[in-house]
Amino acid sequence: MQMNEILKEKIKEKIVLALDVKEFDEAKTLVDELSPYVGTFKVGLQLYTKYGNEVVDYISGKNANFFLDVKLHDIPNTVEKASENVVLRGANFFNVHATGGLKMMEAAARGAKKAAEKLGKKPPIILAVTMLTSISEEVMKDEFEIEADVSEFAIRLAKLAKKAGLTGVVASSLEARKIKEACGADFKVLCPGIRPEWSAKDDQKRIATPKFAIGEGADYLVIGRAVTKAESRIGAMEKIYEEIGELECLQR
Ligand code: C5P
Repeated sequence: MQMNEILKEKIKEKIVLALDVKEFDEAKTLVDELSPYVGTFKVGLQLYTKYGNEVVDYISGKNANFFLDVKLHDIPNTVEKASENVVLRGANFFNVHATGGLKMMEAAARGAKKAAEKLGKKPPIILAVTMLTSISEEVMKDEFEIEADVSEFAIRLAKLAKKAGLTGVVASSLEARKIKEACGADFKVLCPGIRPEWSAKDDQKRIATPKFAIGEGADYLVIGRAVTKAESRIGAMEKIYEEIGELECLQR
């Protein structure tokens, strides 16, 4: 399929590549190779705690968003200052735990806004992690003594994140539609657990194809091993572009 540039840009904006690698050199290779296809590079705690500024500076030098996956969770004052620093450090995308509560999320938004103003930039995208996928209903019940449906609990936290002024949430594509219905179309949803039909599932359980996730309303897709471990990374990206490009909602 011949894809026009507008459609390619729309898809690129949605692709968040997870740089889940051990070494800086591996991250550099991925960034160099995949920059034409990736709107945002996500750096997690593994890489950040080892290479910190080096990796930040490398990505900031590229024409892409830099997502620092720090999942902040502390008292509001600490989160406010840390959020300010995260943005001053160059991230225009970061996240916090919604279970830190309304005041903490408001503090994150405040800190980030302050930093963006200092830099003369627009405020960053701040996403709330509602419930970690590692927390099952059993854990909620047995360890926290919370009798709630995980999915309903996640929606409650998403509403709270919206009230705090955050941009959106991290959620499974299986919940994206419900979150959009509850919080509105402008409230962003970033979906991990993305697996095209032709790729291995690895350790992910609640997976969905890129096409399904976007059809359900996902604004951003976190893509990791489906591309980074593919025999041809560019080939895998091109296939993903082609599959997503078929969606009618992107043709308008
Ligand atoms: O390689 P894969 O596509 O499974 O990578 C998924 C990425 O999304 C990882 O960086 C992982 O930390 C992140 N993530 C996830 N599930 C969540 C939240 C984040 O897999 N619920």
